[in-house]
Amino acid sequence: MLDVIIAKPALPHSGALILPVLEDGLAAAAAWSGLDAATAGTVARALDAAEFKAKKGQTVTILAPGAGLSRVIAVGLGKEADLTAQIAEEAGGAAAALLGREAAATLADHALSATLAAHAAFGAALRCYRFDRYRTTEKPEEKPRFASLTVLSADTDATAAAWAGLKPVAEGVFLTRDLVSEPPNVLTPAEMAERCEALTKLGLRVEVLGQKELAKLGFGAMLGVSQGSAQEPRMVVMQWLGAGGKGKKAVAKAKPIAFVGKGVTFDSGGISIKPAAGMEDMKWDMAGAGTVIGLMAALAGRKAKVDVVGLVGLVENMPSGTAQRPGDVVKTYSGQTVEIINTDAEGRMVLADVLWYCQERFEPRFMVDLATLTGAMVITLGHEIGGFFSNDDELARNLHAAGEATAEKLWRMPLGEAYDKQLKSDIADMKHVGGRPAGAITAAQFLQRFVNAKPWAHLDIAGMAWSSKDSAVVPKGATAYGVRMLDRLVADYYEG
Ligand code: BES
Ligand code: MN
Ligand code: ZN
Repeated sequence: MLDVIIAKPALPHSGALILPVLEDGLAAAAAWSGLDAATAGTVARALDAAEFKAKKGQTVTILAPGAGLSRVIAVGLGKEADLTAQIAEEAGGAAAALLGREAAATLADHALSATLAAHAAFGAALRCYRFDRYRTTEKPEEKPRFASLTVLSADTDATAAAWAGLKPVAEGVFLTRDLVSEPPNVLTPAEMAERCEALTKLGLRVEVLGQKELAKLGFGAMLGVSQGSAQEPRMVVMQWLGAGGKGKKAVAKAKPIAFVGKGVTFDSGGISIKPAAGMEDMKWDMAGAGTVIGLMAALAGRKAKVDVVGLVGLVENMPSGTAQRPGDVVKTYSGQTVEIINTDAEGRMVLADVLWYCQERFEPRFMVDLATLTGAMVITLGHEIGGFFSNDDELARNLHAAGEATAEKLWRMPLGEAYDKQLKSDIADMKHVGGRPAGAITAAQFLQRFVNAKPWAHLDIAGMAWSSKDSAVVPKGATAYGVRMLDRLVADYYEG
C-alpha cells in the first residue's frame, strides 16, 4: 500500500511533484505558491509546448524544471464545474502510473479541495497495486519504486478524515486482488477459508463450515460440485455488526444486509471439461467470493455503521472417478431437486445452497450475490459493464447509482417467467441449464428459485473480475470489481 502522508504546504519543493490542473486553470497552476517564479515559468512554457489543455485524463511529464524538482507531472482535471471524486481518483491513478521510477512524490494543493485530494491519493494507491509474491528473480531496480505520496492540504484535518475512510476500502480492494491473483494450487477452499479467519483481527465474526457440517446440513447442490475434487469444500460466514457502533462486542439489532459469493477456486468444468486454451483463467472463478471478502474487510476496516453478513461457498470443480455426472439428480439444501445437465454450470449450484442458507438463517433485508457465472454475460456486455438482475426495483436503482458513482458500472438485465420455463426438467424439479439462448438470464432464473421471494440482486461479474489492460485506477489483472461499488451502496443507502 502506498504510504500517504498528509501535510501543510511548505516551501521549497524537491523531488517529484504532481500538479493537478483544471481546464482554464493553467495560469493559476503555474502560479501555484509551491513553485518559485523561474520554475513556474519553465513549467508554463513546457505545458504550452506540449499543447496541454488540462482535459480530463491528459498528462504531461516535465523533467527537471528547476529548483531541485526531478519531475513535474501535470494531470488534467477537466472543467471545474464537472469535477468529481471519480475524476480526482483517476487523476491520481494516471499520475501514479507515470511515477514508477520515483520513490516519493508530492501532490500540490492546487485545484483539489481537502476531500478531493484524499480521493486523488486513493486513486494513486489503487493504481500502484502489484501482485509479485511469486517473482523471485526480478532485480530491485526492475521493481516499481513509487511508495510514498505526500498530500499537501491547507486543511490537513479534513484531508486526513477523508483518507481515513478511503484507506480501508483500498485495503479491501487489495485483499480481493490478492485472493483473485493467487494460483489455484495455493488458494484452495481450505486456504481461502483460513484467509477469512484472519479477518477476525478487524472485528469480524468468522465461522467456517467443512465437508462434514455441510453434508449434515444437506448441501447437496454445492457438495455435488466438489465431490470430484481432492480439496474439501468450505462455507464461510462472516458477520460485521457495526450498527450499534461497538464492533466486536455488538449484537445484531435489526435485520442485516447480506452478500453472497461464488468461490470456485478452480473451474475445470468437471466431467463436462473445458477446452485447454485459457483454462488457466479459471483460477479467478472465485472472484465473487473474493469480492465479498474484500468488501467485508473494507466495511469492518472503516467501522461501517451497519449490520452485514458475507457468505462464501468455496469449492473446486474437477473431473475424476468420484466426480458428478451429467444426468445426476441432486437434492439441494432448499429441498428442491435438480437435474445436472452440464457439470460446467457449477457456480449456480454452489450459490443455490448458500443463498437458501443465508435467507433462512439471517432473514436479511436483501441479498446481493456476486459470481463469475456465465460466458454469456461476457458476450453480452463485454468487459465494460457488469450485468445484474434483481426482483426489487429500489435495490436495483441503488445498485445502479452506486455503480455510476464509483465507475464500477452496472446494467440491469431482465428476468421473466418465459425464461424460467427453460429450466423445466422431465425427471426433477428443475434442470440447472436452460440451453444456449439467454444463458446469463436463465442462470439468474435458476438462482431466483433459491431466494424465496425476498429482495435480491445477482451480479454476473464474469467479464469484470479480470482485466487484460491497465486503466486509470485498476492495473491489469485482478480488478476487485464490486468492492468499491458495494462499499458505496452500503455507505449511501444502508448506513446510519
Ligand atoms: N466460470 C464459468 C463462467 C465463465 C466463463 C467465467 C468465462 C468467466 C469467463 C462458469 O462456471 C461456466 O462454465 N459457465 C458455463 C455455463 C454453461 C455450461 C451453461 C458457460 O457460461 O459456458
Ligand atoms: Mn463452469
Ligand atoms: Zn465457474
